[in-house]
This record gives sequence, structure tokens and C-alpha cells, in this order.
Amino acid sequence: MKLFDVYPLFDIEPVKAQGSWLWDDKGNKYLDLYGGHAVISIGHSHTHYVRKITEQLNKIGFYSNSVQIPLQTELADKLGAICGHPDYALFLCNSGAEANENAMKLASFHNGKKKIISFKNGFHGRTSLAVAVTDNPSIVAPVNETENSIILPWNDETALEEAFNSNEICAVIIEGMQGVGGVFVASDSFLKKVRLLCDKHNAIYIADAVQCGYGRSGKFFAHDFAGVDADIYTMAKGMGNGFPVAGIIISPKFKAKHSMLGTTFGGNHLACAAAIAVLDVIKAENLLQNAEQLGEYLKNALRVIPGVKQVRGRGLMIGLELETPCAEIRDILLKEYKIFTGSSSNKYTIRLLPALNINKGELDLFIEAFTKVMSKTLVKIVN
Ligand SMILES: Cc1ncc(COP(=O)(O)O)c(C=O)c1O
Repeated sequence: MKLFDVYPLFDIEPVKAQGSWLWDDKGNKYLDLYGGHAVISIGHSHTHYVRKITEQLNKIGFYSNSVQIPLQTELADKLGAICGHPDYALFLCNSGAEANENAMKLASFHNGKKKIISFKNGFHGRTSLAVAVTDNPSIVAPVNETENSIILPWNDETALEEAFNSNEICAVIIEGMQGVGGVFVASDSFLKKVRLLCDKHNAIYIADAVQCGYGRSGKFFAHDFAGVDADIYTMAKGMGNGFPVAGIIISPKFKAKHSMLGTTFGGNHLACAAAIAVLDVIKAENLLQNAEQLGEYLKNALRVIPGVKQVRGRGLMIGLELETPCAEIRDILLKEYKIFTGSSSNKYTIRLLPALNINKGELDLFIEAFTKVMSKTLVKIVN
């Protein structure tokens, strides 16, 4: 049987990884500025993470959500403490799309309404409602199309106010920083307006923190910069450092009912062990602070490199917009300098999503390589 060919692949086979480094089957060593798409939060194969998952697997790996799983409570307690919402409740699932799907479903159960506001350039996943509120018609199948999705311009407070005039709005779903779209930050005043209008119109503010959450921005959720709380936060990528685990945290205003939400695999023993290990390391190694400080260092260094048009983002989620399309630059970085970077839907923007415990020396290696590639490319363009 062949694989269903939906992914454009690099001709690279990683066989080993440690911290911010990967090794391929030919012995080449790569620096990872992409974090496997914002997933690697605490570095590849962190010893605490490997030990926690291995120990758990030797005890029990899985049983269904019909029994007591104290690891779920431990995870909820640790997550509530570190994210600053100990009064919220946790529902565990398996992927970012599933987290968003459950968040929107819960919002609609809660207020009985149907229309969801999302934003241009946004990405929320590929399942039915998640993809319907994603601004990319090429991945929306006819069966996913729904008149319940309203996609508004980004950071446009007037358009948001006008959309609320209908009074049918169930929820607003918004990334704190658009990831796939090319790292565009939601302004603090826009998120405050989302909060205000949701309160006024009995609608739910859903913070999609799948990519920009889990400390990547330097705060636990990128939405925290605005100083207002969301009703539901969705999270996935960095949560398990590669182990598939996702979740939503839910404000006390929602009442749970048996069978209202559910999943077979969500919250299994191994997933919880992975997620707990990630939180332990984030706390022990002070990774929010590292993300904030090294993010500033990296952005400042990149801004002065000729050919760079704009550097966006917070913490270690950085959009590096060039004056020319970035595909060739990324290709040279990978082939000649053995550095992984990310793309985005904006062809001029490189996305940088390294592990939150990357160090300054590793960033310097990237800055040096990128400077060289840019200067060679500029010389080529001038000639
Ligand atoms: C902001 C955001 N939301 C949701 C998703 C979907 O997550 P998943 O691919 O785990 O379903 C993504 C994935 O890139 C994302 O970036």
C-alpha cells in the first residue's frame, strides 16, 4: 500500500533528535528553528520527558475514560497553576482541530446560538467546523461549508462591532498570534474589544492557543498580553512536545453534563504523562522567561539584516518577512547550513518556532547563517 500523498516532503529522514538538534540517516546534523511546527516546546527527547513516558508505559499506557485516571487531575492542577486559571476546568482531547471543534460546540451548547466569528488569514484546523472558520477555501470541502461562519478582517474593531449587531453571534474564535497566516499579532485593544462585545451580547470568547500557547509567546497564552480572560482556551502543539495531546480549559460559567463532550483516546495515561513532563520542564527551566528574552534577542538581531522587511511576533514565535519570496532562502538554509525553518501562507514570511529552551549560542548559529545567505542572495539580485 502507498501513503496517501498529501504532504510535500523534504528528502530528509531524521533518525535521532536531542534538544534543538536532529540527525538524519546519513549522519548529517540539523539545527531545528521550526520545532516540528511549533510542537517541540521543551526540546527533543528531554531526559525528564523520556523518563516520565517510559515509566508510565511500564505501568499502564491506556485505559478508557470510564475509570479513574489521577494523572488527569495532576495535569489539570499543574496546568491551572501555571496558566493562572486554577478555577477553569480541563477537557482533554487529541489535536488542535479537535480542541477547537469542542470549544465551539461547547459555546453553542451554552448560549444556544450558531454563528461563529473568525478572522481573515486565520487557521483553526481541518475538521468540519474548525475548517469552516479557517480562512482557506481550498481546504474547505463542500460538506464543510456553512452559513454559520463569519470571517472578518483582522484587528478591525469597527467590523467586529458591526457583526455583533445581528445578536446571533455564538462565539468569537481568535489566535493570539496568527501562526499559519505568517505571525500577525492580535492587538491588545482588539482582544479587549472581543471580550467586551462577547460580554455585552452573551457570546463566548474562544482563545485559539494551539500554536501561540504553552509559553511560546513568553506568557503562557499569547492572549494574556491583552490583560483580559477568554472563556475557553484551546491548546495542542507544545502541550505534549510531540506526543499527541490537546485540551481546552473552560471557565466556571459553563456547566458540565455527562456525555456532552467525549473522546476515546483523549487524556490517556501516556498523553497525561507526556503533558505533565512538559509542564514540569517549563516550570523548572523557567522557559517562559527564556522564550521572552531570547525572542527579543533574536528579533533585534534579525531586524538589522539587509533584505529583511519586517520581524513580527512575541517570544519564540517569529515571522521573518523578507523583501523577496522566502522559499529559496529556506532551501539554502536547509541544504547548505542544515537549518530547519518554517514557511507560512505568506510567501515572503519565514516562521521561526524553535524549542523554548533553545540557547543563545544556537540562535547565533542561525543568525550567522541567515546573514550569510541573505548577503549572497542580495548580491545575486543586484547583479
Ligand atoms: C492556531 C491553530 N489552530 C488549530 C490548529 C490545528 O491543529 P491540529 O493540526 O493539531 O489539528 C493549528 C495547526 O497548525 C493551528 O496553528
